[in-house]
Amino acid sequence: MSKILVTGGAGYIGSHTCVELLEAGYEIVIVDNFSNSKPEALKRIKQITGKDFDFYQVDILDREALGKVFDEHGDICAVIHFAGLKAVGESVAKPVEYYHNNITGTLMLIEEMRAHGVKKIVFSSSATVYGVDNTVPYVETMPTNTATNPYGYTKVMIEQILKDVYVSDNEWSISLLRYFNPIGAHSSGLIGEDPNGIPNNLFPYIQQVAVGRREHLNVFGDDYDTPDGTGVRDYIHVVDLAKGHLCAVKYVLENKGVEAVNLGTGNGSSVLDILHAFEKACGKELPYKITDRRAGDIAWCYADASKAKKLFGWQAQYNVDDMCRDGWKFIQQNPNGL
Ligand code: NAD
Ligand code: UD1
Repeated sequence: MSKILVTGGAGYIGSHTCVELLEAGYEIVIVDNFSNSKPEALKRIKQITGKDFDFYQVDILDREALGKVFDEHGDICAVIHFAGLKAVGESVAKPVEYYHNNITGTLMLIEEMRAHGVKKIVFSSSATVYGVDNTVPYVETMPTNTATNPYGYTKVMIEQILKDVYVSDNEWSISLLRYFNPIGAHSSGLIGEDPNGIPNNLFPYIQQVAVGRREHLNVFGDDYDTPDGTGVRDYIHVVDLAKGHLCAVKYVLENKGVEAVNLGTGNGSSVLDILHAFEKACGKELPYKITDRRAGDIAWCYADASKAKKLFGWQAQYNVDDMCRDGWKFIQQNPNGL
């Protein structure tokens, strides 16, 4: 009982998790439509691990194609569900596309899982579900119904759907993993974050400044109520995050029920902390300008990470310097992405 279906496995977090799954001895099957990733990522997973796996270029909205994957792999015992669209700004401009892809896609997946008797799922949720009304550190028991954008609402709603699925059938085992800010790359430098177009997120933007693809970083506001005035986030090494999925898979395989779990370090770093840590890693100064705040941003976001430790025996191992070292290695080796 060790074959895991990974949706969105060619993506940033998915590819790192597939490496950890293969290295831990799991068999995997990946489904991805490459809407935000490239086939090269799959080659790199094989290169790092020396292991092979089946891949299907399938859109999870295509229920029939998804069903065939389950038919061909009758021994799938659990699903890790990464597939989804994730750009906050784009979700405001294209709410229908976001709700359809993320929510309808998840419903199709749940239906096919049910049809094939697979009732164990690890879902990629986000700290975004804590919205703007809660105060840090965020604890899993806080209310999570006040997202600030359609992307965030897809996470809130999918969490609710999965909770209701469990209520309807107590045979299910569901892990709702609320990620904080994953950054960095695999230590090989072979896989990492490779966004299309201008990066929305801080770390890939800094990476591109470091290799000269962007002139300078825009720091979105230095007048927040934080130690240096810039926004504070709980950055977590993507490999730590990937290892958290191994713990979650083991947990859902051995238990029933539904659990929301934060995956963060419990520590906050400011925008300038990350910039300076990256400067240390790459050995040069990186130009930046202070600009206006970005709409929808909050001052503070960090996890209470104690539940993951208690439930999974998991805690993050890497610090911000490790994240920057590995992120620098990836972008040096792949200055124009994968
Ligand atoms: P990503 O875009 O790199 O990976 C998502 C993958 O899913 C991509 O390879 C994409 O091609 C695929 N995909 C999207 N829609 C699909 C569909 N309909 N059918 C098949 N494949 C599809 O993103 P990521 O950073 O690896 O994030 C993975 C998951 O974690 C997402 O659900 C995201 O919302 C969530 N998450 C990410 C972050 C973050 O900071 N990266 C934070 C919180 C939550
Ligand atoms: C964002 C999303 C969140 C999503 C996560 C991962 C918003 C409001 N939140 O989180 O829902 O789950 O990405 O995709 O978009 N910053 C700069 N300059 C930049 C980019 C960012 O100063 O060019 C600052 C931001 O103001 C913030 C910090 O860096 O203080 C981190 O930003 P980012 O990497 O975009 O992540 P979040 O906003 O935390």
